[in-house]
Amino acid sequence: MLSAEQIQANWERYIKLVKESFSGDRADILVPFLEKYQDRIMMMPASAKNWHHSAFAGGYTDHVLRVFDCAVKLYNAWGEMGGNLSTYTLEEMKFAALFHDLGKMGQQQGEYYKPNDSKWHIDKLGQIYKFNTDIPAMKVPERSLFLLQEIGCKVSQNEYIAIKIHDGLYDDSNKFYFISGQKETRLRTHLPILLHQADHMASQIEFEIWDNGGVIKDSTKEKTKPKNASKGDKTLRNAAKVNTENNPKLAEATLNVIDSFFKD
Ligand SMILES: [Fe+2]
Repeated sequence: MLSAEQIQANWERYIKLVKESFSGDRADILVPFLEKYQDRIMMMPASAKNWHHSAFAGGYTDHVLRVFDCAVKLYNAWGEMGGNLSTYTLEEMKFAALFHDLGKMGQQQGEYYKPNDSKWHIDKLGQIYKFNTDIPAMKVPERSLFLLQEIGCKVSQNEYIAIKIHDGLYDDSNKFYFISGQKETRLRTHLPILLHQADHMASQIEFEIWDNGGVIKDSTKEKTKPKNASKGDKTLRNAAKVNTENNPKLAEATLNVIDSFFKD
């Protein structure tokens, strides 16, 4: 659960990111649209079930911002590990992260999530919200893209594919994109994989926060130095140097990971 102050702060950060991240034409369309539906978007959850993720007031913006933060970290990790960041732009990455779940708002007329009026479903199954059956059934990624075209917001091909298949192989219909029968049909960028990773990571963390009574656990403070650390440190560093001798970037990143693990 979030406090009113946290919900407000999330909304302000979300709008600020949209204003800062996108070129004039798109920001001019997106910002008025988001502000028109501010009350709904600010208060809507990110899922229907409490054991799923962020099924509470303000859960949507909380989730989207966490996906955004995870995506930025993963973008840096992909780059450090030798991934090709030149096949998509930073704006495309930010756009895909901030709008992948827009479809969770439902239609402009008709919300997707409604508070559940069945105490039994809430208590027994954790179904805090139920789906609005007055609007046509549509997958969330497709409704995100539908809404964007409805308001006249241009979406690049990289953004379109990333948003469409951000559920990865949890959706069977995405197999076409992820399981390629030939070289030519492979994904041309890793952006859809990065977005899926960020979304998966954020959702799992949100479950873990809920499962921990709403408290964010800072596990880094519990990290203990392994026994024989200096010995392990030296052995791992030597192995990493041999295994990455042809890739200086990978070597540097690997040694950084080892050093951060063994430092006090
Ligand atoms: Fe998501």
